[in-house]
Amino acid sequence: MKKYIRMKTEIPGPRSKELLDLKKQYVMDSMSVHAPVIIDRANGALITDVDGNTFIDLSGGVGVLAVGHSNPAVVKAVKEQAERFLHTDFSVIPYEPFIRLAQQLCEAAPISGNKKAAFFNAGAEAVENAVKVAKFASKKKALIAFEGGFHGRTLLCLSLTSKAKPYKVHLGPFAPDVYRVPFAYCYRCPLKMQYPQCDVACADLLERTFKLFVPPDDVAAVVIEPVQGEGGFVVPPKEYLPRIREICTRNNVLLIVDEIQTGFGRTGKMWAVENFGVEPDIMCVAKSLAGGMPLSGIVGRAELMDAPTDSVIGGTYVGNPVACAAALAVFQTMKELNLPARAVEIGKYMKNRFESMKEKYRLVGDVRALGAMVGVEFVKDKQTREPAPDETSAILKKAMQNGVIAIKCGLYGNVIRMLVPLVTTDDQLEEAFDVLENAISEISA
Ligand SMILES: Cc1ncc(COP(=O)(O)O)c(C=O)c1O
Repeated sequence: MKKYIRMKTEIPGPRSKELLDLKKQYVMDSMSVHAPVIIDRANGALITDVDGNTFIDLSGGVGVLAVGHSNPAVVKAVKEQAERFLHTDFSVIPYEPFIRLAQQLCEAAPISGNKKAAFFNAGAEAVENAVKVAKFASKKKALIAFEGGFHGRTLLCLSLTSKAKPYKVHLGPFAPDVYRVPFAYCYRCPLKMQYPQCDVACADLLERTFKLFVPPDDVAAVVIEPVQGEGGFVVPPKEYLPRIREICTRNNVLLIVDEIQTGFGRTGKMWAVENFGVEPDIMCVAKSLAGGMPLSGIVGRAELMDAPTDSVIGGTYVGNPVACAAALAVFQTMKELNLPARAVEIGKYMKNRFESMKEKYRLVGDVRALGAMVGVEFVKDKQTREPAPDETSAILKKAMQNGVIAIKCGLYGNVIRMLVPLVTTDDQLEEAFDVLENAISEISA
């Protein structure tokens, strides 16, 4: 007997189906959906659709809901701010929530010395603006990004993003002067070596790029995710990021760290870089920053952040006051509930469950985890490691039919990633993992 999941209809139920038919008629097809259900309401880790089916959500709005769906403190802050004022354009009439949030982010950022911050809307805008700051501060133009990296869908971000399909098809030419080096993806090592004997040789490919393709004198910044998200929940060995940091520092190249998916406690620390003892020059945040309201930001060393001249950074909607008020409530809630510590507990449980599935089921190839950022890679054959994208989709479909929503990622679409709300309870997690394991067991049979 399930305590949380309630499946009253087939998926999709009749009301969802009716609305999905309307979507088909009026919404562009490119905006495809993973779960063929229309949500009615949500709370914590639970989602109820318009047919009354209740699901446990392991996707957390793709990593946006560290504090859970409709967190009461966030909802309260949103209501209160909405009743006072909704918009001014910060560059015309500034407001307190933006300034207080900048103070919070600067105080929390893993960067020494004086810091400054600014807020935008989407994660892509944060990345674009971090690059603008780096270019202004360094007076250099080139960028280096990583194989398997994901930084958003605008033209510059797509130029940094390296998953060709589906993101880049037909959309070039991309921004010039973006160079790419392999990431430390040990399960599929770009150098066909093995950790730790490899001595993390892949990090030195950055130095090689400086010699072969673009001199550091021309490079404004290296842009990196501390743990790759969309690329497959790839956790680099502990030496990797410190080595990248050291190479950047020695060559006078700025390090932009994209914490958009990894930030806000997800990896067991407030910021993923803290697990590696590395300081960025500029950091990008978004997703869980505002608990479901659209908000992104950048924070960096003050002398860099102050380099762009008047009005170079801005935009009509940047740092919306309601979203900033929501983010202040998120910071407070993260502290009150000590969510980074909770991420460690949740992560341990999920990792152990997946590790034991790896022993039992033929399709489970690799389990990767840093805190609650846990991914499991599915393969057709554990020896050849041939990716199993169809089986991965079949597992997710089966789990969804039985009341669990989870999503995938990875260069081959064969990784199931856990982005659970960090307020998910132990028994909710257990119920969800029983459903997920049944699905993995059935598709592996
Ligand atoms: C690491 C990373 N950077 C940037 C982005 C882009 O954020 P947005 O979709 O809000 O533009 C994402 C989105 O998934 C992301 O995971």
